[in-house]
Amino acid sequence: MNQTIDTRQFRNALGRFASGVTVLTAPYENQTHGMTANAFVSVSLDPPLVLVSLDNRSNMHRILPLVRRFGISVLAEDQEPLSNHFAGRTVPGLHVRFITRRDIPLLAGAVAYFVVEVIDIHAAGDHTLYIGRVEHFESGEGNPLLFHAGRYGRIREEKGRPTQWPEDEFSLFSIGSVDPPVT
Ligand SMILES: Cc1cc2nc3c(=O)[nH]c(=O)nc-3n(C[C@H](O)[C@H](O)[C@H](O)COP(=O)(O)O)c2cc1C
Repeated sequence: MNQTIDTRQFRNALGRFASGVTVLTAPYENQTHGMTANAFVSVSLDPPLVLVSLDNRSNMHRILPLVRRFGISVLAEDQEPLSNHFAGRTVPGLHVRFITRRDIPLLAGAVAYFVVEVIDIHAAGDHTLYIGRVEHFESGEGNPLLFHAGRYGRIREEKGRPTQWPEDEFSLFSIGSVDPPVT
């Protein structure tokens, strides 16, 4: 069926897919440039690859082909102000703290970090896909900030239900080869 696409309805449908929130950071001309992005995808374990999708109008799309290396910080549930700040919405009084790994700035307090090198760039409509090889990563214990239907959310732990599958039974990269437990 060839459906005429209503852009607003299309955005709404896409927004039903819940995600975390990342901030991409890149050093360029003695400054740190940051941009909020939820179009972050794990791609490959070996080699370790991830992907981000950037609007062709964004500054980061202009900068990444020049700098080639950048950071990805997965925001913690209390970092909504940083998400707004790096999406171009002024947050009065916000103090942004950076840490540095392999000469790449990352956001202090995030729940996971990746330092990546761009190895492939694909034009895709009004966005561009950047595939990055992971040089360095760290992950912590806290809960991530969520984004769904244009709003932020938090994880609600349900009592009496397992909150984590054992790693050897089911992980992101074993989908298709191992059946997840049915709850
Ligand atoms: C939760 C959230 C997720 C976003 N995800 C993306 C994304 O994946 N790709 C993108 O190009 N813009 C995304 N944006 C929009 C950019 O963060 C925003 O346009 C930003 O201002 C672009 O940076 P610039 O102003 O320096 O060009 C997102 C915004 C928010 C609030």
